[in-house]
Amino acid sequence: MDQGDPVGPGARGPDVLVGRAGELDDIDGLLTSVAGGDGAAALLEGEAGIGRSALLAALVPGARLVGVEPVLVRVDAATVPYGPLRQLVAPRPDVWPAGEPDTELAGLLQAPDEPAAARRIADLVVAAVLRRGDQHPWALLLDDAHLADAATLDVLTRLAHEAPLPGVLVVLTLRPVPHRREVQDLVAAWVRAGARNVELRPLSTPAVQTLVEQAVGGAPGPVLRGVLATTGGNPRLVGDVLAAAAATGSLTTSDGTAELIGSGWQAELDARVRRHVAYVDASVRTLLTQASVLGTSFVVPDLAALAALDVTTCWRTLRYALAAGLVAARGDRLAFRHDVVRTALYDDLPPQQRRALHARAAWALEAAGAPPHVITGHLERAR
Ligand SMILES: Nc1ncnc2c1ncn2[C@@H]1O[C@H](COP(=O)(O)OP(=O)(O)O)[C@@H](O)[C@H]1O
Ligand SMILES: [Mg+2]
Repeated sequence: MDQGDPVGPGARGPDVLVGRAGELDDIDGLLTSVAGGDGAAALLEGEAGIGRSALLAALVPGARLVGVEPVLVRVDAATVPYGPLRQLVAPRPDVWPAGEPDTELAGLLQAPDEPAAARRIADLVVAAVLRRGDQHPWALLLDDAHLADAATLDVLTRLAHEAPLPGVLVVLTLRPVPHRREVQDLVAAWVRAGARNVELRPLSTPAVQTLVEQAVGGAPGPVLRGVLATTGGNPRLVGDVLAAAAATGSLTTSDGTAELIGSGWQAELDARVRRHVAYVDASVRTLLTQASVLGTSFVVPDLAALAALDVTTCWRTLRYALAAGLVAARGDRLAFRHDVVRTALYDDLPPQQRRALHARAAWALEAAGAPPHVITGHLERAR
């Protein structure tokens, strides 16, 4: 843990955030109103790797500038009951004078199993949050709130019921799926309390180019640009491309241009990308792997036939992939949002299984009336 920074670990993002001026302005507006004594809240949502943690970290200096004390806590999957909450309300005598209720709260959080502790803890947290806001405006920044333990989520939900909280900005980052019931309750409570919804969208092509220039000191050349286009504007995937290239000695920079050479980076990139989709349910990953055989986009009945599923079951699984931002609807078909993910899944298929899937795709597409060259293409890859 980074002991040196009172806002805690994860407080530092990339040196310069590209393409997020609009989102930062949006939240800066909330910070200003909280500095003036109002209460505000925002939910930062978006697909994995889109930059929620980076944006949250970028709020820290902005908050200090307007006199709002940031308290940033990053939740990790191994959280213990009340773990994140304990960090959020940890004593900070340099900003807020410690009082008797703080001592009681700290004691209860050390032994939360005491009978009736849960209600008392929630009451004390609400009181502490309000008291702090009254003494010195602050921002409660919780990264990956969806990973928090049920006890913490309950208290944060209760906090929403008490909103607006004068002098307090609450910002929670969330992944769209999978959502536990407690997370759904939390989101619903904050939405009802008027929280601003900030949806992080993919970075634009110029923003991706700027990011690359900042990282490697050269503008991407044509081959690198082509690979970057498969990241769908997801900064983590952009980072994966650069890291895979660097790790395999496939990146050259000359005359201000950064370029990929050879193909040694591909397997490394596949492996990195697969690690990022490991959080997705196995059934969804399996179905997307089958879909990868059909190409960058596909129609649902074709995938259902390929996967030997009925269309309804296929849809149910795909809805999750849609919510996760891995595929997007394009008219009556679905398309992989990041072709780099499709390639990683496709490259992971054992050759025999890949051939069998292409053979099945040829059969399914022929039955659906696809043109002959498409069917021939699959048959060639089935050999
Ligand atoms: N706007 C941005 N500009 C530059 N780098 C970014 C930007 N957004 C995210 N990154 C970088 O991309 C990676 C993934 O971002 P992160 O915030 O961890 O995503 P998330 O929390 O949504 O999963 C990190 O290395 C982060 O520093
Ligand atoms: Mg994150």
